[in-house]
Amino acid sequence: MVGAHTDSPCLRVRPKSNQKSEGLLKVGVSTYGGGLWYTWFDRPLGMAGKVIVKGTEERLVHIPKPILIIPSLAIHLQSADERKAFDPNSENHLVPILCSSSKDSGDGKHANELLDIIAGAAGCSPGDITDVDICLMDSHPAEICGAKSEFISSPRIDNLLSTFACISALSETDPAQISDIVVAAAFDHEEVGSVSASGADSTTVSTWIERILESLNVTSSSIKSAMMARSILVSADCAHATHPNYPAKHQSEHKVAINGGIVFKANANQRYSTTCTTTAIARQVCDKVGVKHQDFVVRNDSPCGSTIGPLLSAMLGVRAIDVGAPQWAMHSCRETCGAADVENLKNLCKGFFEHFRAIDNSFKEI
Ligand code: CO
Repeated sequence: MVGAHTDSPCLRVRPKSNQKSEGLLKVGVSTYGGGLWYTWFDRPLGMAGKVIVKGTEERLVHIPKPILIIPSLAIHLQSADERKAFDPNSENHLVPILCSSSKDSGDGKHANELLDIIAGAAGCSPGDITDVDICLMDSHPAEICGAKSEFISSPRIDNLLSTFACISALSETDPAQISDIVVAAAFDHEEVGSVSASGADSTTVSTWIERILESLNVTSSSIKSAMMARSILVSADCAHATHPNYPAKHQSEHKVAINGGIVFKANANQRYSTTCTTTAIARQVCDKVGVKHQDFVVRNDSPCGSTIGPLLSAMLGVRAIDVGAPQWAMHSCRETCGAADVENLKNLCKGFFEHFRAIDNSFKEI
């Protein structure tokens, strides 16, 4: 099984978003996850999400048009200390501006101007909107950059890169090549701890697995346990590439290069699920499919992120490895990764689907 997460830190429209100030309409938002919020300033923003229409129907909306902006405060209006600190208050200073204010104030929750745009995207009339779950996003499309076109600049690389890689690997895997059950799963709410029905820290995955096995007439719990013991979880989430302007922030013997191959993430305190056995298996998969790999640990004096690997591994009782494509600026509104690493990660996922069984069968565990 290859697992990833679909969510990224962002600003979400509040249940009552209508705000007015200085003759302007603003949209009240909540911060979701641990974003680098200063990167959301001076950036035209679009929105996407879900709308409940007439109380009974869900519709998805995507509004790539830049309709919102959060302007910085001009340098001349800040003291030297304020400039140096740049410490925006997420309640007061991170409120996107929608447009100049009108007399008409909307449905009591959202401005009419906002409801018109959302209704247009949902294909309904503004009065039909019962509720919304809308995230803001960088409206500028992803692009390849760098003098040698080596990099991708994009919002939400963490972790749509891995989601794309594992789903495309699954769709490209030839069923004739495999005898196992192969799964690609992507979860919501990783950025806020994964505890939800659509998050990884729930019984959802075990339920899915139960239902798959029942459909194959496997009902014996001992067979299920044996199957889990023979399985592996590849937890795919982006890794920190060494930043050339902050090299001292990275552990000196574990530098990670953009386009240098897929990162095996290890942590002595189980922030990652990687073990020496699963690393050995992953190395063989990499060799088989011609993907380079590199090792990552954080410095002892640095905090370490975590991901769905350890909790899914514990919940399912399955061996696991945490891997990822290297990237810069994790949790910025706009992140950067290597153009070659998307293909690298897809090939590694595909390699696990096609070659894990043979490699594991030949592996001598104690
Ligand atoms: Co992530």
